[in-house]
Amino acid sequence: MTVRPILTAPDPRLQAVSTDVDAVTDEIRTLVDDMAESMYAADGIGLAAIQIGVAKRVLVIELDKKDGKKNPVAYINPKVTWASDETAVFEEGCLSVPEIWDDVERPARIKAEYLDRNGKKQTLEADGLLATCLQHEMDHLNGVLFIDHLSRLKKSMAVRKLTKAKKLKETA
Ligand code: NI
Repeated sequence: MTVRPILTAPDPRLQAVSTDVDAVTDEIRTLVDDMAESMYAADGIGLAAIQIGVAKRVLVIELDKKDGKKNPVAYINPKVTWASDETAVFEEGCLSVPEIWDDVERPARIKAEYLDRNGKKQTLEADGLLATCLQHEMDHLNGVLFIDHLSRLKKSMAVRKLTKAKKLKETA
Protein backbone atom coordinates (compact mmCIF):
# COMPACT_ATOMS: atom_id res chain seq x y z
CA MET A 1 0.00 0.00 0.00
CA THR A 2 1.32 3.35 -1.03
CA VAL A 3 0.53 6.79 0.28
CA ARG A 4 -0.02 8.93 -2.79
CA PRO A 5 0.01 12.74 -2.88
CA ILE A 6 -3.41 14.39 -2.75
CA LEU A 7 -4.22 17.04 -5.36
CA THR A 8 -5.33 20.40 -4.00
CA ALA A 9 -7.50 23.06 -5.58
CA PRO A 10 -7.20 24.92 -7.81
CA ASP A 11 -6.13 22.03 -10.03
CA PRO A 12 -7.91 21.30 -13.33
CA ARG A 13 -7.62 17.56 -12.70
CA LEU A 14 -10.08 17.91 -9.80
CA GLN A 15 -12.70 19.09 -12.31
CA ALA A 16 -12.48 15.91 -14.39
CA VAL A 17 -15.53 13.70 -14.68
CA SER A 18 -14.43 10.21 -13.62
CA THR A 19 -15.40 7.12 -15.60
CA ASP A 20 -17.06 3.93 -14.40
CA VAL A 21 -14.91 0.98 -13.42
CA ASP A 22 -15.50 -1.85 -15.94
CA ALA A 23 -14.50 -4.68 -13.64
CA VAL A 24 -13.31 -4.80 -10.05
CA THR A 25 -9.86 -6.28 -10.59
CA ASP A 26 -6.77 -6.56 -8.39
CA GLU A 27 -5.64 -3.29 -9.96
CA ILE A 28 -8.78 -1.60 -8.60
CA ARG A 29 -8.29 -3.22 -5.18
CA THR A 30 -4.73 -1.87 -5.11
CA LEU A 31 -6.11 1.57 -5.98
CA VAL A 32 -8.62 1.23 -3.10
CA ASP A 33 -5.83 0.24 -0.68
CA ASP A 34 -3.64 3.16 -1.79
CA MET A 35 -6.58 5.52 -1.42
CA ALA A 36 -7.24 4.27 2.12
CA GLU A 37 -3.57 4.69 3.10
CA SER A 38 -3.48 8.17 1.56
CA MET A 39 -6.69 9.11 3.40
CA TYR A 40 -5.39 7.90 6.76
CA ALA A 41 -2.04 9.63 6.23
CA ALA A 42 -3.88 12.90 5.65
CA ASP A 43 -6.28 12.26 8.55
CA GLY A 44 -9.40 12.34 6.34
CA ILE A 45 -12.69 10.43 6.49
CA GLY A 46 -13.29 10.08 2.77
CA LEU A 47 -11.41 10.17 -0.51
CA ALA A 48 -12.29 9.95 -4.19
CA ALA A 49 -9.82 8.43 -6.66
CA ILE A 50 -9.54 11.68 -8.62
CA GLN A 51 -8.03 13.28 -5.50
CA ILE A 52 -4.93 11.16 -6.14
CA GLY A 53 -5.20 11.84 -9.87
CA VAL A 54 -7.08 8.70 -10.97
CA ALA A 55 -10.28 9.54 -12.87
CA LYS A 56 -12.20 6.38 -11.91
CA ARG A 57 -15.48 6.22 -10.00
CA VAL A 58 -14.03 4.87 -6.77
CA LEU A 59 -14.51 6.18 -3.21
CA VAL A 60 -13.16 5.16 0.15
CA ILE A 61 -14.88 6.21 3.36
CA GLU A 62 -14.19 5.49 7.00
CA LEU A 63 -16.20 7.49 9.48
CA ASP A 64 -15.45 5.80 12.76
CA LYS A 65 -12.27 3.93 13.41
CA LYS A 66 -13.35 1.52 16.14
CA ASP A 67 -10.63 1.17 18.79
CA GLY A 68 -8.16 2.54 16.29
CA LYS A 69 -8.88 -0.39 13.95
CA LYS A 70 -8.99 0.52 10.30
CA ASN A 71 -12.05 -0.54 8.35
CA PRO A 72 -12.20 1.50 5.16
CA VAL A 73 -15.24 0.90 2.94
CA ALA A 74 -14.86 1.06 -0.84
CA TYR A 75 -17.72 2.32 -2.99
CA ILE A 76 -17.17 1.57 -6.67
CA ASN A 77 -19.41 3.12 -9.37
CA PRO A 78 -21.67 4.59 -6.65
CA LYS A 79 -25.04 6.02 -7.69
CA VAL A 80 -27.71 7.83 -5.72
CA THR A 81 -31.03 6.11 -6.42
CA TRP A 82 -33.16 8.22 -4.07
CA ALA A 83 -32.69 11.43 -2.07
CA SER A 84 -34.97 12.88 0.61
CA ASP A 85 -36.64 16.25 0.20
CA GLU A 86 -35.59 16.96 3.74
CA THR A 87 -32.12 18.50 3.87
CA ALA A 88 -29.34 18.67 6.43
CA VAL A 89 -26.51 21.13 6.90
CA PHE A 90 -23.02 19.96 7.82
CA GLU A 91 -19.80 21.89 8.06
CA GLU A 92 -17.68 20.33 5.34
CA GLY A 93 -13.99 20.26 4.65
CA CYS A 94 -11.96 18.42 2.03
CA LEU A 95 -8.41 17.11 1.76
CA SER A 96 -8.25 18.82 -1.65
CA VAL A 97 -9.46 22.13 -0.19
CA PRO A 98 -7.06 22.61 2.72
CA GLU A 99 -7.79 24.99 5.60
CA ILE A 100 -11.34 25.80 4.47
CA TRP A 101 -14.54 24.63 6.12
CA ASP A 102 -18.08 25.79 5.46
CA ASP A 103 -21.72 24.77 5.80
CA VAL A 104 -23.24 22.84 2.90
CA GLU A 105 -26.90 21.86 2.61
CA ARG A 106 -27.67 18.50 1.04
CA PRO A 107 -30.46 15.89 1.13
CA ALA A 108 -30.55 14.47 4.65
CA ARG A 109 -31.07 10.86 3.55
CA ILE A 110 -30.14 8.98 0.42
CA LYS A 111 -30.35 5.52 -1.03
CA ALA A 112 -27.41 4.43 -3.12
CA GLU A 113 -26.06 1.44 -4.99
CA TYR A 114 -22.45 0.57 -5.63
CA LEU A 115 -20.03 -2.32 -6.10
CA ASP A 116 -17.97 -3.45 -3.12
CA ARG A 117 -14.28 -4.38 -3.31
CA ASN A 118 -15.25 -7.87 -4.47
CA GLY A 119 -17.32 -6.46 -7.32
CA LYS A 120 -20.59 -7.42 -5.61
CA LYS A 121 -23.54 -5.07 -6.03
CA GLN A 122 -24.63 -3.48 -2.75
CA THR A 123 -27.37 -1.07 -1.77
CA LEU A 124 -27.54 1.16 1.25
CA GLU A 125 -29.67 3.75 2.92
CA ALA A 126 -27.70 6.46 4.68
CA ASP A 127 -28.42 9.45 6.87
CA GLY A 128 -26.37 11.81 9.02
CA LEU A 129 -22.67 12.16 8.36
CA LEU A 130 -22.51 9.13 6.04
CA ALA A 131 -25.20 10.60 3.75
CA THR A 132 -23.32 13.89 3.56
CA CYS A 133 -19.93 12.25 3.13
CA LEU A 134 -21.16 9.98 0.32
CA GLN A 135 -22.68 12.94 -1.53
CA HIS A 136 -19.52 15.01 -1.04
CA GLU A 137 -17.34 12.18 -2.39
CA MET A 138 -19.71 11.41 -5.28
CA ASP A 139 -19.52 15.09 -6.23
CA HIS A 140 -15.75 14.62 -6.72
CA LEU A 141 -16.52 11.97 -9.37
CA ASN A 142 -18.34 14.67 -11.33
CA GLY A 143 -15.59 17.25 -10.85
CA VAL A 144 -17.49 19.14 -8.15
CA LEU A 145 -15.95 20.41 -4.90
CA PHE A 146 -17.89 21.41 -1.78
CA ILE A 147 -16.91 25.05 -2.35
CA ASP A 148 -18.92 24.86 -5.60
CA HIS A 149 -22.02 24.69 -3.38
CA LEU A 150 -21.21 27.98 -1.64
CA SER A 151 -22.37 31.45 -2.65
CA ARG A 152 -20.41 33.03 -5.47
CA LEU A 153 -18.75 35.43 -3.03
CA LYS A 154 -17.73 32.72 -0.58
CA LYS A 155 -16.46 30.53 -3.39
CA SER A 156 -14.32 33.27 -4.92
CA MET A 157 -12.87 34.06 -1.48
CA ALA A 158 -12.04 30.37 -1.03
CA VAL A 159 -10.42 30.10 -4.46
CA ARG A 160 -8.34 33.22 -3.78
CA LYS A 161 -7.15 31.78 -0.45
CA LEU A 162 -6.30 28.42 -2.07
CA THR A 163 -4.42 30.05 -4.95
CA LYS A 164 -2.42 32.18 -2.54
CA ALA A 165 -1.57 29.21 -0.33
CA LYS A 166 -0.45 27.24 -3.37
CA LYS A 167 1.82 30.07 -4.59
CA LEU A 168 3.39 30.36 -1.15
CA LYS A 169 4.01 26.60 -1.11
CA GLU A 170 5.60 26.69 -4.58
CA THR A 171 7.97 29.48 -3.66
CA ALA A 172 8.85 28.06 -0.24
NI1 NI B 1 -13.50 16.18 -0.70
